[in-house]
Amino acid sequence: MALKTKFTETFGITHPIVQGGMQWVGRAELVAAVANAGALGFLTALTQPTPADLANEIAKTRDLTDKPFGVNLTILPTINPPPYDEYRQVIVDAGIKIVETAGSNPAPHLPMFHDNGIKVLHKCTSVRHAVKAQSLGVDGISIDGFECAGHPGEDDIPGLVLIPAAAEKIDIPMIASGGFADARGLVAALALGADGINMGSRFMCTVESAIHQNVKEAIVAGSELDTELIFRPLRNTARVASNAVSREVVQILNNGGQFEDVKDLVAGKRGVKVYELGDLDAGIWSVGASMGLINDIPTCGELVSRMVSEAEVLISGRLLNMIGADEAESEMEAVLA
Ligand SMILES: Cc1cc2nc3c(=O)[nH]c(=O)nc-3n(C[C@H](O)[C@H](O)[C@H](O)COP(=O)(O)O)c2cc1C
Repeated sequence: MALKTKFTETFGITHPIVQGGMQWVGRAELVAAVANAGALGFLTALTQPTPADLANEIAKTRDLTDKPFGVNLTILPTINPPPYDEYRQVIVDAGIKIVETAGSNPAPHLPMFHDNGIKVLHKCTSVRHAVKAQSLGVDGISIDGFECAGHPGEDDIPGLVLIPAAAEKIDIPMIASGGFADARGLVAALALGADGINMGSRFMCTVESAIHQNVKEAIVAGSELDTELIFRPLRNTARVASNAVSREVVQILNNGGQFEDVKDLVAGKRGVKVYELGDLDAGIWSVGASMGLINDIPTCGELVSRMVSEAEVLISGRLLNMIGADEAESEMEAVLA
């Protein structure tokens, strides 16, 4: 069985479930496993040190799946920007058909992607940015609530309000993210007006996610209380795991410190050690509040099929029973008449 939505139809994916881009985590093994499970996985372009490495990673993913998958292009304002144009060219040349953009305005990238038949799913954290992206002509919106891992923006609007508020203004397919980890979240997102969900933390904690087992076990052991919001005073908030490093960063910035004062603590080369060596205090690592809902380390196949079948039971069992099966049937008949 599969849940059919505007998202699954437009993007040609079996299930309305997405694995969003994840720096250091969104690699071939995970993305292929997500694709083989009938969901949509995104390789993270900038995890690859060079555009040529991205081309190799795309080829490696293709060796592991014949199902569709995409590439995430995170566009962040940095002093030394990566060669975005070259990464974009690799995506086009490799014949990728779906791109997830995030981080800032996708406008500079849209013409080339659209000219090459690539659908763009733009991830953003506010209704106004979603409306803007829709007006620019993106093909889908991924609206990321305050609960999410990574960058939740500065508005602090959780999904319960953000998703229906966005749904009122968005006509193109829209998926919801931030805090989703199981069938209850999937059904809730559909009820709130989304056409599917995007999960980061939940997919990070699967068998095929190529990160150290210690990190996965820490996610299982962790609760919804175990994240920190770093960079708040700099208005570049990021939700990360609470550890010795992230707590120190919060303290330094709260005491008036500047980016320079925490630069070494938050360096990517330290963060990547967490995933590679399993040293949970080596640096900063991203995870969302959904950690409180993650209690196991399944394969992606097990996770997706469990979520979809439990969602169907939730919809056709628990929810339908609330209005009474007979009543539901006569209402359906009235609707169909
Ligand atoms: C380890 C990790 C790294 C991430 N890196 C990126 C990234 O580079 N670009 C991006 O657009 N989103 C990134 N995200 C955000 C996810 O794509 C997704 O939007 C988010 O995890 C959703 O919230 P959830 O973790 O509650 O499911 C990252 C998330 C995690 C957990």
